[in-house]
Amino acid sequence: MTITVRKGNLVDEKADLLVLNLFAGEKLGGAVAAVNAKLEGLVETIAKEDRFKAALGTTLSIRTNGAIPAKRLLIVGLGDKKRFSEETVRVAAAASLNVAKAIGARTVVSVLHGAGGGEYAARLCGKAIAEGVLLADYEFARYKKEPAKESPTSFAIVTTDGKKARSAAEGAKLGETYAKATIFARDLVNAPPSHMVPADLVEAAKAVVKASPGMKMKVFNRAQLEKMGAGGLLGIAKGSEHEPFLVHMTYVPKGSKAEGAKGRELTSVALVGKAVTFDSGGLSLKPANSMETMKCDMAGAAAVIGAFSVISELAPNAVVHGIFGAVENMPSGTAVRPGDVLTIMNGKTMEIKNTDAEGRVTLADTLTYATRLKPNAIIDLATLTGACVVALGEEITGLMSNDDALALKVAAAAKSAGELMWRMPLPEEYKDLIKTDIADYKNDAPRWGGSLTAGLLLQEFVNNIPWVHLDIAGPAFAEKPVNAYTKKGGTGHAVRTLLEYLRAV
Ligand code: BES
Ligand code: MN
Ligand code: ZN
Repeated sequence: MTITVRKGNLVDEKADLLVLNLFAGEKLGGAVAAVNAKLEGLVETIAKEDRFKAALGTTLSIRTNGAIPAKRLLIVGLGDKKRFSEETVRVAAAASLNVAKAIGARTVVSVLHGAGGGEYAARLCGKAIAEGVLLADYEFARYKKEPAKESPTSFAIVTTDGKKARSAAEGAKLGETYAKATIFARDLVNAPPSHMVPADLVEAAKAVVKASPGMKMKVFNRAQLEKMGAGGLLGIAKGSEHEPFLVHMTYVPKGSKAEGAKGRELTSVALVGKAVTFDSGGLSLKPANSMETMKCDMAGAAAVIGAFSVISELAPNAVVHGIFGAVENMPSGTAVRPGDVLTIMNGKTMEIKNTDAEGRVTLADTLTYATRLKPNAIIDLATLTGACVVALGEEITGLMSNDDALALKVAAAAKSAGELMWRMPLPEEYKDLIKTDIADYKNDAPRWGGSLTAGLLLQEFVNNIPWVHLDIAGPAFAEKPVNAYTKKGGTGHAVRTLLEYLRAV
């Protein structure tokens, strides 16, 4: 499906499906009123008959019978005008794509939702439409014999104002990039865990780096991890047949000092992802139903790789490191035991109380590695705790940080990306809960406040570098559809936040 933006008159457009919109409680206006007139009031009649209230994402479909060149008309509800945002546009565009697919429309022409705003708004709305349409179109059909539902071949956004059309086109191009990165992450998460073992995740990162100008990477295998003293990664990997790897990708902007040129000194950011390719819990085995979705436990790394897949294209003004320690957490005769003590890369020891609290152990090594690069900021993403899902539900990420300014920046990026995140504290008072008599730290803590104690443990390994921890355990994987553009399965959550952050850095 190709997304295009052009200047034109919606009423005269030829298409299988013409998409217009309506705010809740508003009279028919603009193109809708014009089409209604051509259809001799049919839009108004059917809206009344169907009790169409234009709630956000609801749709009204009408056959045009030749009254206008478009075969079918779709009115998408935008909901309350006062609550209009980029998210409104994403949902409306996604809803229109879902209908287009359901009725088998090949060509779609859509109004530029939010065209009432200025050129800047047109850019944001163009971006949001592309994101909504492409993310809604996503299906993970790799393992299905039945072909996926056919997508339209073209989705054209049309507006009467040439300047707005140009801005919307720029936005749409950016939106396509964001969607592509998100889909990259979704695919990695949705792959069955036996097809996404640590070595497969390394291959995915390698492919990205190879395809991206200005990128390089280092991969450390088991023998190298032993030399580095990465006892956390090695310890958690002990129960698995699959070799653990630490991956470090780097993007260096062209003409920067870091690239060896005389030019500017750039800020640097490390993106660190949890990469447990399957979390069985290890010897502290999970109950069967909790294990069902645990192929998603590498979603943090998937988000980092997804973001990296488009970084060269976005060319942010920063050196960006992407780091993940890929392991599989399995029970076996060689697995790490509750009671074992592991030594992290920075020399600190950790008593393993519960082998299912493995993420923080692997991240202790990975974050230590990241701090040695002396980045100006670290952002880690991890499906870390069920407690975070209890606290914030399935759609909201827990944001923890040792630096208010960085926390605000990431929260702002999340807001404009349309991804829900909420800051949680890292209380000094709870630090005792991760202490133990026989080692520097222990890897579990009491049930209550479980996300915070996990965050506190990670904090011990960031060396006071400004850092944000995103516990994405809830939103990374959808057990039921979340909205019109986020279906079941891997969501690619946080990819767009990372890209918004990097673009503003
Ligand atoms: N990967 C899980 C956390 C998780 C839970 C992710 C639900 C996505 C959805 C993590 O490794 C884990 O098992 N955490 C334990 C920690 C506990 C043993 C201290 C948990 O949350 O129960
Ligand atoms: Mn676990
Ligand atoms: Zn886990």
